[in-house]
Amino acid sequence: MSRYLVTGAGGQLGNCFKSVASEFSQHQLFFANRSEIDLNQPSSLAAYFERQSFEGILNCAAYTQVDQAEKEREEAQKINGIGVQKLVDFATANGLKLIHFSTDFIFDGSNEKAYLETDTPNPINAYGESKYAGEVILSRAPCAHVTFRISWLFSPFGNNFVKTIRSISRSKTEINVVNDQVGKPTYGIDLARTVLGLLDHPDLFNFSLYHFAQGPATNWFEFAQRIVELSGETCLVNPIPSKEYPTPAKRPMRSVLDTSRIEKIVPLPIRNWELGLRDCIEQIRSHETI
Ligand SMILES: NC(=O)c1ccc[n+]([C@@H]2O[C@H](COP(=O)([O-])OP(=O)(O)OC[C@H]3O[C@@H](n4cnc5c(N)ncnc54)[C@H](OP(=O)(O)O)[C@@H]3O)[C@@H](O)[C@H]2O)c1
Repeated sequence: MSRYLVTGAGGQLGNCFKSVASEFSQHQLFFANRSEIDLNQPSSLAAYFERQSFEGILNCAAYTQVDQAEKEREEAQKINGIGVQKLVDFATANGLKLIHFSTDFIFDGSNEKAYLETDTPNPINAYGESKYAGEVILSRAPCAHVTFRISWLFSPFGNNFVKTIRSISRSKTEINVVNDQVGKPTYGIDLARTVLGLLDHPDLFNFSLYHFAQGPATNWFEFAQRIVELSGETCLVNPIPSKEYPTPAKRPMRSVLDTSRIEKIVPLPIRNWELGLRDCIEQIRSHETI
């Protein structure tokens, strides 16, 4: 049985791991939210480890407020860069494996083709810079480590695009959504199952970086349309260009992740995001009726 600590367990991805953990009886997961373990307070991690040992860490803790990061560069770096360095130091000192998550926002979005793990990052916003800083730290880490780069994360938990569109579409008759930013959504539950399914895979640590996202590539307008339809709402979704929806942080225009590397080790093909979206909306509905 492998024992892993999940940091940032109160966030969206942490909750995804929590919700599927019972399907993986070969692993024992310990969940710690920010009040129990703060990445920037290594003593909180050391104290936890003394009470409960484990052999690896799934790091779901991160600063994720993309627009706010433009005003809070230091805070973003403190968590996504320095915080990762502290985790690496702890993992190295204690012989632990480290599984980390990063984002398509480390790319500038100018590639016509899908991005490979070997393509050069060039972040265009403060959040992307902070996440890239974490990736660089991880890439030099002496401990066993793997980073999963993901994009457009959605799930029944926390704040995400699916929940936002679903809720707005209930109260509005029309919404405008940008149609010129292209990417691939990632259903957090599918990601969590994939990661837990791979933890004991003999080839997992052969690479230190994998892309995981679900095809086909889409844009936010198309994704929103499908969310509204599957939610059974009648709200009209209008396509608009990004220049009509200015945001503090610039977004990559085309950050499609190529997933062929991970597809060589997962037992089943990665399913399309639409199947994940159907499950997600079903789950949200079931929580609403409780
Ligand atoms: N969301 C997306 O669309 C997306 C896309 C691509 C990649 N990712 C990556 O996927 C991972 C998970 O994202 P998510 O959506 O689950 O983020 P999230 O919902 O914002 O969760 C992050 C968690 O980390 C915690 N945290 C923040 N600072 C911390 C610290 N110093 N010590 C310990 N915990 C801390 C937060 O606690 P508080 O809430 O108390 O601050 C929160 O519970 C991140 O690495 C993110 O960069 C996300």
